[in-house]
Amino acid sequence: MPPSSETRLAPGLLYIDGQWVPAAAGATFKTINPATEETLTEVAEGRAEDIDRAVGAARRAFAGGAWPKLSPAERGRMLWAIGDRIDGHAEELARLETLDSGKTITEAARVDVPMAADCFRYFAGWATKLEGATVPARAGLFNYTLREPLGVIGQIIPWNFPLLLAAWKLAPALAAGNTVVLKPAEQTPLTALRLAAIAAEAGLAPGVLNVVTGFGPGAGAALVDHPGVDKIAFTGSTAVGQEIMRRASATLKRLTLELGGKSPNVVFADADIDAATRGAMNGIFFNKGEVCTAGSRLFVEEPLHDAFIERLGAQTAKLQQGDPLDPKTRLGPQVSEAQMGRVLSYVERGVAEGARLVCGGARAPGRGYFVRPTIFDEVRNDMTIAREEIFGPVLSVIRFKDIEEVVRAANASAYGLAAGVWTRDIKKAHRTARALQAGTVWINTYGLYDSAMPFGGTKMSGFGRELGQCGLHEYTQTKSVWVDLS
Ligand code: NAI
Ligand code: MG
Repeated sequence: MPPSSETRLAPGLLYIDGQWVPAAAGATFKTINPATEETLTEVAEGRAEDIDRAVGAARRAFAGGAWPKLSPAERGRMLWAIGDRIDGHAEELARLETLDSGKTITEAARVDVPMAADCFRYFAGWATKLEGATVPARAGLFNYTLREPLGVIGQIIPWNFPLLLAAWKLAPALAAGNTVVLKPAEQTPLTALRLAAIAAEAGLAPGVLNVVTGFGPGAGAALVDHPGVDKIAFTGSTAVGQEIMRRASATLKRLTLELGGKSPNVVFADADIDAATRGAMNGIFFNKGEVCTAGSRLFVEEPLHDAFIERLGAQTAKLQQGDPLDPKTRLGPQVSEAQMGRVLSYVERGVAEGARLVCGGARAPGRGYFVRPTIFDEVRNDMTIAREEIFGPVLSVIRFKDIEEVVRAANASAYGLAAGVWTRDIKKAHRTARALQAGTVWINTYGLYDSAMPFGGTKMSGFGRELGQCGLHEYTQTKSVWVDLS
């Protein structure tokens, strides 16, 4: 039985070759509602044998069957139909995402679900625009290039934006004509399963999209190792990204890796203070800080520092934390007990290393994995809380004196995912944007995304780009064709 609207909280099945099937070993695991600590349902625990079946189905679908017979326009229409069906199921998907991940219903309904639908429609338009080139190489020859799909793509995604990151990965891969085995995060498997059912309703042929739920070292590693997979697209921790890169060398898989960050958000003294305050708050508290681009290092220019901290503290005190299904809630629980523990241990490190705790710093009483929104002031860039990704609602504030100092400090990080700049001086804004080592820089705003704008990292934040034309090309390869005309 597919996880239809009646059975959607009791799937227990994998989606392979257009069928809902139990894991070969019959194992299941629980997925938890982090706001209540209650079990939502049991999910099938896929392992190497299941991955092998899914990769086989994806290979057959790539090489034959209905999928490669579709014209690019028909492929585009299929993606558009999936986007529309996501919108058609918007309320249900938002609720499911909130139950499984603890993100607020407001964010799920306003950001995750509509952006996932938009992503499918954006890439629908690209299906008919994957052009090669004619190349004036030599006399007496006709040279041209074809932009071809890679084949079977393994996609491994994390728990912070489960549906949205599935869309970011699936839509361009399918637009380019690939087939996919998707491994959702074990903490948040439910919306990916629903998405598979929605894609099937839209008419996606069996085997084109397979969803194997399970754990990283089991299902994830088997996908990375499988010789029938042509590419791995991964979003998650830098440590696992490194492990995937090591293992993928055995079969020389193509990789895109979207990894962690410790993004600097730089507020100059001449900034619009209200906007910068909102940007700083949004930068660290959106999705309870479980965001790879979180503006977790807030650099504030000396003359503004004290007033800015005061505002931030006052605004943070007003943030409503609690039941993520309540539309008024701004801050939900961390995704899991383990994640809450990790965040709280960083708070302890911050205190031990001498940072000044302005607010928060503890678990909220009662059920659920809630961490109070936390601000540290007087942080030095070499403290653990300024160097390592915390992935929770914990902000490190660092003072600076001038543009040279802040650029040096902002770049003194292993990561290079994103950055923010707040100033009314247009030259300073663009100079700083050029000098910052980051895949994305936001000027006088923070945390904006669009299906048309490439997204990805530098340094230890990974490589490759998602979204936009760059994101599409990551799922293609170029073939050169030579024709003798003499
Ligand atoms: P993780 O990197 O272990 O999990 C991400 C995905 O990778 C999951 O689907 C997981 O099952 C899979 N995975 C784990 N080990 C694997 C392996 N050996 N081979 C293949 N796939 C594997 O992240 P985790 O442990 O849940 O979170 C730890 C930290 O990672 C967070 O505190 C945060 O700092 C960072 N993180 C960053 C994310 C980002 O968006 N860049 C997303 C999630 C976590
Ligand atoms: Mg869950």
